[in-house]
Amino acid sequence: MNLLEQIREKAKANIKTIVLPEGTEERTLKAVPTLVGEKIANPILLGNPTAIKDLAAKVGADISGAEIVNPVDAPFFDDFVQQFYEMRKDKGMTPDKAKTLMADPLYFGSMMVKTGKADGEVAGAENTTGDVLRPALQIIKTAPGISAVSGAFIMIVPDCEFGDNGIFVFADCAVTPNPTAEQMAEFAAASVGTATNLCGIKEPKIGMLSFSTKGSASHELVDKVAKATEIARAKFPDLKVDGEFQADAALVPKVGASKAPGSPVAGQCNILIFPDLQAGNIGYKLVQRLAKAEAIGPILQGIGKPVNDLSRGCSVEDIVNVVAMTAVRA
Ligand code: ACO
Repeated sequence: MNLLEQIREKAKANIKTIVLPEGTEERTLKAVPTLVGEKIANPILLGNPTAIKDLAAKVGADISGAEIVNPVDAPFFDDFVQQFYEMRKDKGMTPDKAKTLMADPLYFGSMMVKTGKADGEVAGAENTTGDVLRPALQIIKTAPGISAVSGAFIMIVPDCEFGDNGIFVFADCAVTPNPTAEQMAEFAAASVGTATNLCGIKEPKIGMLSFSTKGSASHELVDKVAKATEIARAKFPDLKVDGEFQADAALVPKVGASKAPGSPVAGQCNILIFPDLQAGNIGYKLVQRLAKAEAIGPILQGIGKPVNDLSRGCSVEDIVNVVAMTAVRA
């Protein structure tokens, strides 16, 4: 069984309710029959029921197994508006603005997760990452003890002897443009959960990436990564983490042994933490395209309850897989 099949099986073992705010998006509707038929999740579609059913009929998607909720008609809509207003009034929220925003399925969906009416949320087939994340960050917020959310990719690299038989977790590739050293340390800790729970990696080994290995170059950007490594060790003593590493020192045993002798993880890393979002986003896309790797994600880490973003280029299968991962997280 490959990794995605294992994730789907885990989801089936404990079926969760996942809200899909993009109820009038074709691929989302086409994912519903598999989600329901294979008992991967109980989907809730948000939007105007007539528009959703018309589109489903047009594209031939059987959505009879999904619940449909129109935010503005929901019996708990006014309660959601009031809660959202209370939550944000110190930040300039007004009752009218709260009502307008709560009619937006992305805000409404995050509130469903916050209040336990859904176990998780998946969106992004037709909305940007920022538009999916903003309501989730405002409403659900970060998990206790975490200051910044990160987006990890599970990278499955064919014919690769590095990492965990070619499986890696890369972070942050999706969320925080310029993390502090403290935030990079949090991304390292959060990535261990992704590596063990979703990838089945038994010995997570983390490399904190830079253009320098163990002081081979001096620059404030290198200092940030070295500091992040120290913080990760101090704050999460159970982590197997080292840095700062160049990518080859993190991945290739021979290079690791020569550039970072004595390191417990050099040359064996299966979790790579990038110094900023430009490096992380470029890095995962290069590996995906040039090494023909499968890139699964972004998986949002450090958020209070599971919300995941889709790529706007996603396939129906991608949606099913991300819903399964979200259900497993839940
Ligand atoms: N972690 C936790 N909370 C955060 C984070 C973060 N990284 N960033 C912002 N927040 C919180 C803020 O504290 C704020 O909370 P508050 O309003 O309760 O005080 C709330 O989120 C909104 O913050 P803003 O700064 O107003 O929101 P912003 O418009 O900056 O959006 C966002 C934040 C959406 C995460 C933004 O940083 C962003 O767009 N990141 C990049 C996303 C992206 O384009 N990724 C690449 C593409 S994805 C891909 O290729 C797979």
